[in-house]
Amino acid sequence: MALIIYDSAYGNTKRIAEAITETIGASARCILIDDIEKVNLNDDLLIVGCPINAWHPTPKIVEFLKSLSPSQLSGVSAASFDTRIDSIFSGNAARRIASGLKKAGAIMVAAPQAFYVKATAGPLADGEIEKAKEWARSLMKVMHNTHAVLAG
Ligand SMILES: Cc1cc2nc3c(=O)[nH]c(=O)nc-3n(C[C@H](O)[C@H](O)[C@H](O)COP(=O)(O)O)c2cc1C
Repeated sequence: MALIIYDSAYGNTKRIAEAITETIGASARCILIDDIEKVNLNDDLLIVGCPINAWHPTPKIVEFLKSLSPSQLSGVSAASFDTRIDSIFSGNAARRIASGLKKAGAIMVAAPQAFYVKATAGPLADGEIEKAKEWARSLMKVMHNTHAVLAG
């Protein structure tokens, strides 16, 4: 089972989160960070993504990461992404998300991933939905291989 948690102001990160969820398939579901209280964090794979806000994850995602206890995600595989403007001044929210997930004991199974918007309100840059699907397929491959190794 995979859980994708996202935040989104203008809908671009939501579109990326939904593309990832659809690609993983029936075993995946995505939720807006506002609904975090409704879920248990006991999925095999946890993916967290949000827009960059002043070089950081959004306040709600920061609050969520701070709320995690040190071993709350032990045994959970995780990955992070952000959406951003293509600039050298963008910052890196995905890396900060990964750091928060690791502090809670998660094992990161992919490098923090960026997806690009053309302007603050979007739209997404060309090809980013396909890139998100490809990224999701690569995560599934890693999960598949990990489980195959664990099963011997
Ligand atoms: C208050 C605010 C701060 C932002 N700061 C950054 C930033 O530091 N770096 C960056 O690349 N984009 C920044 N952006 C652009 C957002 O990343 C962009 O709006 C987002 O990717 C759109 O995703 P969404 O439609 O899911 O909200 C900022 C946007 C807002 C509204």
